[in-house]
Amino acid sequence: MEFSDEVFQEIVEGDTKLLVPKKSITEKVPPKKPAFFNPKAKLNRDFSIIAYASFLKKFQGPKIFLEGLSGIGARGLRVANELEIESLIINDLNPSALKMAEHSANLNDVKNIEFSEKEVCRFLSKYSKKGKRGSIVDIDPFGSPAAFFDCGLRATMHGGILSTAATDLQVLNGLFQGACKRKYGGIPVRTEYGNEIAIRLVLGCLRVVAARLGVEIIPMFVESEMHYYRTYVKVLNRPDQQENIGYILHCKNCGNRKVSVEQEQECELCKSKISIAGPLWIGKIFDKEFVTDMLVEIPNFKVDKKCEKTITKCLEESEMPVTYFTLDEIASKMKSSPPKLEKVVSSLQKNNFKASVTSFCPTGFRTDAKINEIIEIFNSIQ
Ligand SMILES: C[S@@+](CC[C@H](N)C(=O)[O-])C[C@H]1O[C@@H](n2cnc3c(N)ncnc32)[C@H](O)[C@@H]1O
Ligand SMILES: [Zn+2]
Repeated sequence: MEFSDEVFQEIVEGDTKLLVPKKSITEKVPPKKPAFFNPKAKLNRDFSIIAYASFLKKFQGPKIFLEGLSGIGARGLRVANELEIESLIINDLNPSALKMAEHSANLNDVKNIEFSEKEVCRFLSKYSKKGKRGSIVDIDPFGSPAAFFDCGLRATMHGGILSTAATDLQVLNGLFQGACKRKYGGIPVRTEYGNEIAIRLVLGCLRVVAARLGVEIIPMFVESEMHYYRTYVKVLNRPDQQENIGYILHCKNCGNRKVSVEQEQECELCKSKISIAGPLWIGKIFDKEFVTDMLVEIPNFKVDKKCEKTITKCLEESEMPVTYFTLDEIASKMKSSPPKLEKVVSSLQKNNFKASVTSFCPTGFRTDAKINEIIEIFNSIQ
């Protein structure tokens, strides 16, 4: 394949040279032809590099990366070039994307890479046997990843990491509840913390598929921006120890919320009818040690400054309760202007509540205080 300067250009992302279609840089929505590349996804690829580095630091087995939907190979080539990996196989249905990836592999002098042009589940099934599985498997489709959870889990070795991305935001955020129930097995409720509900729906679906296959998933790290939700789970070849599936019960009248394995109909505080999100993942979404190792790894890579800020918040919220509140939500209930976030967190802590910021929202905070207790604290600092 000839790569004319009119259609293609070389860029550097992280520490890796990439051949990309020119239009993917110049146009607002990156075109799918000749191949898909989204320059805005650099930040999520930066997070991937840091998360995979944290994983590889402690992982003892063979270091094999399988990428099911590679596009022009941006993520895979960065993994090959910036991390210590023994072998990589990157797969995409689009032959032009793979040719570009091959060209970029040569630009970076990457040798331990193979290319595969198969439907993603056929590709992953080929590697779903002992000795062939990936220690890191990535699934990054257009839209929902749910159709690929089975083959992704089967292709991940014991102790390995499966990372997935979802971009079907309207479905996960509650615009099409029927579609969400069909795809992810649970329904969202529209709340200020809708991005957390979305991630928990993705994890809940992964957990149900994993349980069916007799494997356990342990979320290590999750990350969301305006256009996507990404999850990183460890896969263990044993039946799961805890169910971790339940509901978030949210009262749209008073803002009270609760996590429960049972559905309930009435708000404990104001007795209004409660909205129910789920079934979804109600366990931890961050592994404290994994996230700490991510922070340690940052200086080793050329990544966006936002990564450190976000990962620091993930560490702070890693052992905090499910769901967060926002300053605006509380202030609008009180019909006053919101206080400073740091002040809210420290006042909650001084009053013996757990409290932290959250990576999910710049004005969000987690706490075990109930909404009425939070309002009291807000009153005391006004
Ligand atoms: C969102 S893009 C991947 C982006 C890439 N992971 C990155 O970080 O730049 C999705 C890719 O999936 C490929 N694709 C779509 N359906 C597929 C299928 N069923 N099997 C394999 N590849 C597929 C498309 O050609 C496209 O390149
Ligand atoms: Zn209520």
